[in-house]
Formats: sequence, C-alpha cells, structure tokens
Amino acid sequence: MNVADSEVVVSILYDAGFTAADNINDADLILVNTCSIRENAEQRIWRRLKAISHLKKKNKGIIIGLLGCMAERLKEKVLEEDRFVDIVAGPDSYRELPLLVAEAESGHKAVNVLLSREETYADISPVRLDKNGVSSFVSIMRGCNNMCAYCVVPYVRGSERSRDPLTILKEVTGLFNSGYREVTLLGQNVDSYIWDKNGFNIGFPELLEKVAEIDPLLRIRFSTSHPKDISDDLLKTMARYDNICKHIHLPVQSGSNRILKLMNREYTRESYMDRISAIRKFIPDCSISTDMISGFCTETEEDHQASLTLMEWTGFDFAYMFKYSERPGTRAARKNKDDIPEIIKTKRLDEIISLQNKLSALSKKNDVGKVFEVLIEGYSKRSSEYLSGRTTQNKVVVFPKKEFRKGEYVSVYIERCTSATLIGKTL
Ligand code: 5AD
Ligand code: SF4
Repeated sequence: MNVADSEVVVSILYDAGFTAADNINDADLILVNTCSIRENAEQRIWRRLKAISHLKKKNKGIIIGLLGCMAERLKEKVLEEDRFVDIVAGPDSYRELPLLVAEAESGHKAVNVLLSREETYADISPVRLDKNGVSSFVSIMRGCNNMCAYCVVPYVRGSERSRDPLTILKEVTGLFNSGYREVTLLGQNVDSYIWDKNGFNIGFPELLEKVAEIDPLLRIRFSTSHPKDISDDLLKTMARYDNICKHIHLPVQSGSNRILKLMNREYTRESYMDRISAIRKFIPDCSISTDMISGFCTETEEDHQASLTLMEWTGFDFAYMFKYSERPGTRAARKNKDDIPEIIKTKRLDEIISLQNKLSALSKKNDVGKVFEVLIEGYSKRSSEYLSGRTTQNKVVVFPKKEFRKGEYVSVYIERCTSATLIGKTL
C-alpha cells in the first residue's frame, strides 16, 4: 500500500518539476512515507527521522516531510517534538505537496492532514519504483469502512472509496504495454469494491474479470480479501481465468469465536471454515495465506489453542504473524485492557510461528515432483547462474538460467525445496 502511495507522490512531484536525487545526501527535499499499523512500525520511523535530522544539522536548507498514516495520527506530536520536520502530509493530501513544499521553503511549517471522502488519485499515473519491471501494484480503492477493534487504518486512512474502473483499466493496460506481466490490485478490503457511475455498475468480481481480459499473458493478483465478504462469485471468476492467480490472502487473526467477536471481525470460526471449503471446492489448487494476531485483549490459552487448531485445519501455505500492539484511539484501546503480558504474547506468537513453519514446509513438499508455470522475475538472489520467479500460487521457484529472460513464462519441474523456495529445472 505504501509503495503504491509513494509512486503516486513521485508522480505528483515529477509533474511539478522536481527530479529525484541519486543519493539521500544530495537531496534538497526528503519525504518519509509512514505506517502506523503496529507500534514497532512507528518506532522504526522515529529512528529513521533521527538519522535524517543529522543531515539537516549539516545543511539547514534541506526540507523534511513526514507523509502517510503517522503524519495523520501524530501531527501535533511531530510538529512539537521534531523541529526539523517541515511538512506533515496525510494520505489524502499528496496533490498539495508542491504547495506544501513552497510553504516550507518560505520558512513556515506546512501541514495538511485533511481526510477526503473522494480522493483516490484515480487520474495519476504512478511512477514505478519497483526494480524488476515485471510485477507492479495498482491501487483500486482507499480507506476502510470496517471497524476491527485493534486497527488504526480507518482513523488514519479515512472511509472507503473505490477508484474509477476506467482509470484502473488504463493504468493496467499501460503497464502491460510497457512490459509488465503481473499486477496486484490493492485495497484494504477488495471485496467491497463498488463503482456505480458513468455507465458502470460493477463490484470486485466484474472488475477482476475486466482486468483479466486485458491480456492472457498478464497475471492478476489482489489483496486483501475479508472473510466476511469473499463471495462464491469471486471464487468462480478466479476459477474461470487462468491468468487470475490461484492464491488468496484471507486474514483470520484468531480462531476463537469469543476473540473474533471482541475484535469486531464480523465472522465466526465456522463461517471462516466455510469460506476455506468454498475456495477448495471452486479452486482446488489455490494457495491460502493469512494474518494472525497473538495476545489480543483477554485471550486465554483456550482461545490461543483455537487459533492453532484452525491454522492446522486450514493448512495455510504462508502467514504474517504479529503480537497484538495497542494503537491509541482504536476501539480496543478505548474499551479493552491490553492485559496479556508480553512474555505470554511472545510465547504464543512463537508457537504460532513454529506451527506455520511446519505448514509452510508441508505446502512446499507437496509441490515436489509437480510441474508449474513460472513467471520469471530475474536472477536468484544467491547466484546469477539461477533465475527466480513465482508460481500462480505465489511460491518462489529457482532454476538454472539457460536462455530465458525476465517477464517470460516457463514450465518448471520441481525437484526439491528449502524452507522458503522451490528448486527445479525447466522442461
Ligand atoms: N496489532 C497487531 N497486529 C495488527 N494488525 C493490524 N493492527 C494490528 C495491531 N494493532 C495486523 C493484522 C492485519 C495486518 C495488516 O496487520 O493482522 O491483518
Ligand atoms: Fe483494519 Fe479491519 Fe479495515 Fe483490515 S478490514 S484495514 S484490519 S479495519
């Protein structure tokens, strides 16, 4: 999400005549895009700001700006405590950046943290910051209307708005024509994408279909789906198109109904399992990944065990796993005490991680002896004698290079695997 936002910011600044410095030491303007999702994300930013402040001590003329969710959440604190920050710009005010820079240049602090009900940056062509030229992100909506009790996103990114589908199709077509072969459609909750204007009346399955029809050689991924909203319609659309990747990221957060209710996730363990069964029915070769939180308020050992059994039952191929981190202003911070001791949160997270390691290893072992179509992304990190790419299930595959080039599809027979990678040979 933040990479996509940074690409919008760079586009706005280029249009206003700015150029990129090769090196942070040569920059007159330094913008730091930020995330507030967990406390350690914010702590990383504070450390980075501190490092940047040394540059400002050497050259007083440098302008420093804080962008994104932390700017939205901490505007006063940033301006009070960090005298060297000149610009504070929330996620809906990037169009104003050239003006904010001018204001800062005239010696004033420049702040815009207004959230918008309409801004989607629909007409802006992001400048691609990714290096491989094969896969890219495309934002299809902004904000979130769900109110998960632990989550700061609705407060810092505002309410949900969908982007005009014509601008999405134009951006994706442009990417394909300039050599990209994979796009990931991004939104906090893609299942609630809706556009009912200028002759269109479409939801996410229809949008996905239109993007898939741009070209069969273009792979489509998307993130993130919500277990309460992911529909059979979407799954059937995925099954119909070979170029819609067979991978779903479906964050479950907890396997305990009591905790899911406290989290205000609006689904139960049973309804989550029903969605997993539907995925297996419509798309048997689909990989499934998830997000888990350990140690949410009041979580008991029994709740934790319910998370582990649900993970085991589903057999996730991959997971992002976190300790609960209380975010000021959220519903949980207001209503529930952050009462699970750090040591228990850590112990439970360790158990979640070690179970997931086992499940991830199993998922890769099951692929040994099979053939997958792999989209080549470039050389393997370890050796330039090997190429690296992904299967439709989003698993990394490494194989001897031969005459292939990035952006091409090859069939790879999987011979063995490590904990993170499938290793094979081309057919
Ligand atoms: N504490 C821990 N994890 C969180 N996430 C969101 N908010 C918090 C929080 N306060 C995790 C959820 C979400 C992912 C993007 O980040 O698992 O799905
Ligand atoms: Fe946060 Fe829930 Fe929205 Fe995801 S769906 S961004 S967890 S409020």
